[in-house]
Amino acid sequence: MKISENKFSRILRPSLFALLLLPAIYYAWGVWQDSLGANPLEAVIRGLGDWGLRVLLLTLAISPLRRLFNWPQLLRLRRMVGLYAYFYVVLHLFGYLWFDHFFDWEEIWFDILERPFITVGMVAVILLTPLAVTSTNGMIKRLGKKWKKLHMLIYPISMLGVLHFWWMVKLDITEPVIYAVILAILLGERLFNKFSK
Ligand code: HEM
Repeated sequence: MKISENKFSRILRPSLFALLLLPAIYYAWGVWQDSLGANPLEAVIRGLGDWGLRVLLLTLAISPLRRLFNWPQLLRLRRMVGLYAYFYVVLHLFGYLWFDHFFDWEEIWFDILERPFITVGMVAVILLTPLAVTSTNGMIKRLGKKWKKLHMLIYPISMLGVLHFWWMVKLDITEPVIYAVILAILLGERLFNKFSK
């Protein structure tokens, strides 16, 4: 599949950009209007975490979709989608630091050490940071082959993201299981693609 360069740059890319911004607008509007239920701050932290994970998986879905639809242009959306994942994860972290702990660093440090799901989430954000920083054209050129290796970190990061959610949930694990299955399919497709060549 191929759409004209014009349509791709003028319609598809900006539409996806606007679409991925909608959850942030929804939560900002919800806080402003006080329409997020009894515990709006928890709703914001959780919602941003959900979108961080969803967009992370969407980033991972781009290559398989490109192969499935034989649509090479899709790859050019990957950087934008990946940066959106980082955007939501950082907002999620910021929400935690602010609304859950009011930037009490000592308390935050103990929480990171004591609650394994927080530890795992923190490791995921720390690992995601160099990927966001090196996403520019200049960095891709400068790092050469190392860039590809570095960006393979996206696989363990996604696993940590799912694990973070799984360990957070106390009773009903349906949602993290759904994310885990989607992740398994996305990673499985890569393995299959690699070994079937
Ligand atoms: C790649 C990194 C991360 C991803 C993908 C992620 C994703 C998620 C998801 C999907 C949830 C569940 C939301 C729901 O209940 O529907 C969640 C909850 C949460 N996450 Fe993260 N997260 C990440 C990093 C972090 C970090 C670094 C922290 C803090 C240091 C953190 C703190 C929390 C907290 C406090 C909750 C809610 C727990 C509760 O309300 O009981 N997350 N996260």
